[in-house]
Amino acid sequence: MLDKQHPLPDTGPSLKRDHADAATLEDLRHAAESCTRCDLYRNATHLVFGEGPENAEVVLVGEQPGDKEDLAGRPFVGPAGRLLDQCLEEAGVDRDRCYVTNAVKHFKYQMRGKKRLHARPNAGEVQRCAWWLGAELELLRPKLVVALGATAVSSLLGSKVKVMRDRGNILHPEGQFDILVTIHPSALLRIREPDEKERSRASFIRDLKKIRGFLRH
Ligand code: URA
Repeated sequence: MLDKQHPLPDTGPSLKRDHADAATLEDLRHAAESCTRCDLYRNATHLVFGEGPENAEVVLVGEQPGDKEDLAGRPFVGPAGRLLDQCLEEAGVDRDRCYVTNAVKHFKYQMRGKKRLHARPNAGEVQRCAWWLGAELELLRPKLVVALGATAVSSLLGSKVKVMRDRGNILHPEGQFDILVTIHPSALLRIREPDEKERSRASFIRDLKKIRGFLRH
């Protein structure tokens, strides 16, 4: 049985971990629906599991669902998702051929008036949810995992890898899949200064172009 109630002793979705008997991504999603490994399920509307082809060669990993994703139950369908789609298109990458998921599967937020504002998941929440990410990766066995931003990086690689230092690099951690490190698209949404925004967008697209070599033609 999937032991989804208990924290794991180690961190990161290592390939060596036994993810028991979820035979398909659909089984895994179904099991995740009743996850109580951390408290985030309590206030979320939906579990937001990964989606995309079972034979995807590339997996994109974000941080956690946002407000729109929580309501829709699907990853990257809000403003950051729209920007990601545009940048993938400009990079010549078809999102439909990638599996898209998050390091954390439930929306964490704080109420400000009637608005639900994004709150960063803490290290324990990321670690507990890394179990699910590891299970997705074991079933998918992709050629490349793309870590979008610091939370995905820390879930996949721990704290030694830094987004701004290592972005654009493809890392080859032992016992894991190749991992391309890049920024999270919402970092672009936060930039106000137009030139800087354009430069950062161009760098992000340059990083995403590296995915193309991992997709079958
Ligand atoms: N940001 C993420 O990291 N993931 C989503 O699914 C949406 C926004």
